[in-house]
Amino acid sequence: MPRPFALLLIPALALWLVSCSSVDPPIDDDEQNDGSTLRSRADSVDFYIGAAVGAAHLTNDAQYAPILSREFNMLTAENAMKFASIRPARTAFDFSAADDIVDFAEAHEMAVRGHTLVWHQQVPSWITNASWSREDLLAVLEQHIESVAGRYRGRVVAWDVVNEAVADDGSLRESIWLDVIGPEYISQAFRWAHEADPEASLFYNDYSAEGLGAKSDAVYELVEGLLEDGVPIHGVGLQMHVSTEFAPSAADVATNIERLGELGLEVHITEMDVRIPLPASDAELAQQADVYQTMLEVCLEAWNCTAFVLWGFTDRHSWIPGAFDGYGSGLIFDENYEEKFAYDALTRALAGEN
Ligand code: G3I
Repeated sequence: MPRPFALLLIPALALWLVSCSSVDPPIDDDEQNDGSTLRSRADSVDFYIGAAVGAAHLTNDAQYAPILSREFNMLTAENAMKFASIRPARTAFDFSAADDIVDFAEAHEMAVRGHTLVWHQQVPSWITNASWSREDLLAVLEQHIESVAGRYRGRVVAWDVVNEAVADDGSLRESIWLDVIGPEYISQAFRWAHEADPEASLFYNDYSAEGLGAKSDAVYELVEGLLEDGVPIHGVGLQMHVSTEFAPSAADVATNIERLGELGLEVHITEMDVRIPLPASDAELAQQADVYQTMLEVCLEAWNCTAFVLWGFTDRHSWIPGAFDGYGSGLIFDENYEEKFAYDALTRALAGEN
């Protein structure tokens, strides 16, 4: 080749190399928006895909936050908004962790599910160890809801106002709220939440009420009664803590979501995980993926099922091993943030693929 031609080729080659690298840039976890993430797929079908978040992980685990904001357009505070976290002593509110989570969501344009205003667990000892008149405990609950829902007014799209008020046999669960106040604590909580944040969708949230049975019938009757009484309730949260050994049938979940829709209620899948007896085999991980995909498809097919939230996203931080001896691996990223089969299954469901 004549020498001047060879010299001309050098800048051309350099230009070609530069153009190749601009076509395929290194992926920045926080910025990836090429249509391949759960979040971008959910955005394109106008749907919420979410995860529960531990405030400490946002700062203590460098890999956590970039993946959270890349993959999800909604988050729930796993513990930070619970009564005992926010008001550990009668004279002390502590909104720091909840504020961190809401600030993070806003910085990354994620919607917030508030969790939860009234529950029988995580009630601070200054409440459980004291003896209360009905009037005084009502006043404490009212002030709590006013303070918490009021603080995040306009920043929370949906509140789990009342959590797990129904026992497994369908009766109302024993709790300090039921014992001292009576069943009206439920309707009052919704009314106070609506006053504190009129724009937020207000949810009743429970577990083992996803399919059909005594408990989901009881939840249905509870929310139907609240609507008849003119209580401001807008949705039901189906937690969906299931396992590879037991998950409700897709048909039952679809029927349950449909009947709640006939009442005019929205449904959110609020806390999904699929635990596996450890060590998890590839076959079990594939079965887990199938459960995730099936439940997301059921939700996507229902007009009134508008959010699908996981209880965490990485097996590095999950409540399961601490609560179920010998079980774990319930989420869609493993402990090293590698995508599991379940991650691909959810992306397929969001893309409408089998
Ligand atoms: O923050 C304290 C820490 O200071 C202390 O050293 C440590 C010692 O045990 O406890 C820490 O608090 C724990 C907290 O999680 C944060 O990790 C509590 O003991 C523990 O009971 C609490 O468990 C949470 C549980 O709710 C009870 O609040 C789980 O993380 C959380 O995943 C779980 O979430 C519930 C939903 O709210 C409702 N539906 C069921 C779901 C699973 O149980």
